[in-house]
Amino acid sequence: MDHFIIHGGYPLCGEIVIGGAKNSALKLLAAGLLTSDQLVLSNVPRIDDIVTMCVLLKQHGLNVTDISGDGSVLSVGGKITNTEAPYDIVSKMRASVLVLGPLLARCHEARVSLPGGCAIGTRPITLHLKGLETLGANITLENGYICASTTSRLKGGEVVFPFASVGATENVMMAATLAEGRTTIVNAAREPEIIDLANCLKNMGAEIKGAGEKTIVIDGVDSLHGAHYRVMPDRIECGTYACAAAITGGDLRLINGNTDHLAAVVQTLRHCGVEVHQTDNVMRVWCKERLRSTEITTEPYPGFPTDMQAQFMALLSVAEGTSKVTETVFENRFMHVPELVRLGAHIDVQGSLATIHGVRTLTGAPVKATDLRASFSLILAGLVAHGETILDHVHHLDRGYEAVERKLSACGAKIERVQKNQEIKPV
Ligand code: EPZ
Repeated sequence: MDHFIIHGGYPLCGEIVIGGAKNSALKLLAAGLLTSDQLVLSNVPRIDDIVTMCVLLKQHGLNVTDISGDGSVLSVGGKITNTEAPYDIVSKMRASVLVLGPLLARCHEARVSLPGGCAIGTRPITLHLKGLETLGANITLENGYICASTTSRLKGGEVVFPFASVGATENVMMAATLAEGRTTIVNAAREPEIIDLANCLKNMGAEIKGAGEKTIVIDGVDSLHGAHYRVMPDRIECGTYACAAAITGGDLRLINGNTDHLAAVVQTLRHCGVEVHQTDNVMRVWCKERLRSTEITTEPYPGFPTDMQAQFMALLSVAEGTSKVTETVFENRFMHVPELVRLGAHIDVQGSLATIHGVRTLTGAPVKATDLRASFSLILAGLVAHGETILDHVHHLDRGYEAVERKLSACGAKIERVQKNQEIKPV
């Protein structure tokens, strides 16, 4: 397993190009199942989860072509020859469950493995299933698989979510594009990635109104056609590198950064004493004074994003004063805490509340990544810790962040990747 070696104490200064959004691109790829034409996606991030999704779509029979040669422009589409999504792929990446709606809509059947839990929570998908049942799907669970079918075309209906689930909104929205009649999604998720998916689907001929609002209305059409679509910039990657500028006392220009997608994060950064300025497509972030403490509660968009919680935990570990972080979206998303404590952070966890007593300095140590965002939390801490930090299990990071060591080193970070086969075996 690869690991990173980080030497802290170097302010980051320079430019970082923000790539395409993982949490949009994965769904846009799944939307390729909705048409026999080619859907061409550009600005696709080169990350492991995208590779996994491409493997999944290929085993459904789609052709997946890397037009750019470097993985940034992908063409997907064609005939579906297999409507089963197997456990070995779905268990690796939960977003695989988003093939369910498109397969049902296009083939009237699907057999998709239950994804199982993951590090940050049990992550049930009951809302996905109930939403699709409202559109007429018959769904049973057999031997760890979701067996879904419909005798004829799905039929539009009113889907009311008890809370705004991102994935459930996306699965139902995609299925509804080919259903007969009108579907209304009430209490829909409002994340920018939902808008990105809706815009792509509209480019393919879907009729969708209200994406980004609490109620989305989809009028089903007989078929969707191919399209060209550019994936939106990754707002969480942008927010993550903003934290890197803040924690190291640096000054970063984040190209393609957009404060409009990060209002709650920008507000919190400014409350901590960080300067954030947007000019055209550049978000400039700098901080020349000691960070101040704050209070954060994660919520569905437009609230503070849960995907930024771990990164801010690192920031607040060295802020002046005591901060509080309440995680309301996932039930087990504090696994970065014991690793931050190994680096000298003073953090107490009581249920969903973490209380962080800011310290002046952290000290490097060997730590291990447990999940995607926790990985970067530990990198942020290592960038400011005195001495050497070794971050193991970097494969978690590679699932969702592209070229981290290259982007950070180019701005002055002392970080290098040691690949497993590079390790010097003791004599
Ligand atoms: C998406 O996950 C993102 N993943 C997550 O990002 C993100 O944290 C999450 O939305 C919230 O913004 C992708 O887009 C691939 P949810 P998703 O359905 O769709 C519970 C990252 O780090 N729930 O909004 O799974 C669920 O357990 C990842 O990039 C049910 O109970 O999120 C969770 O507690 C992590 N039943 C909460 O709702 C359901 O049927 C939010 O889940 C569905 C969800």
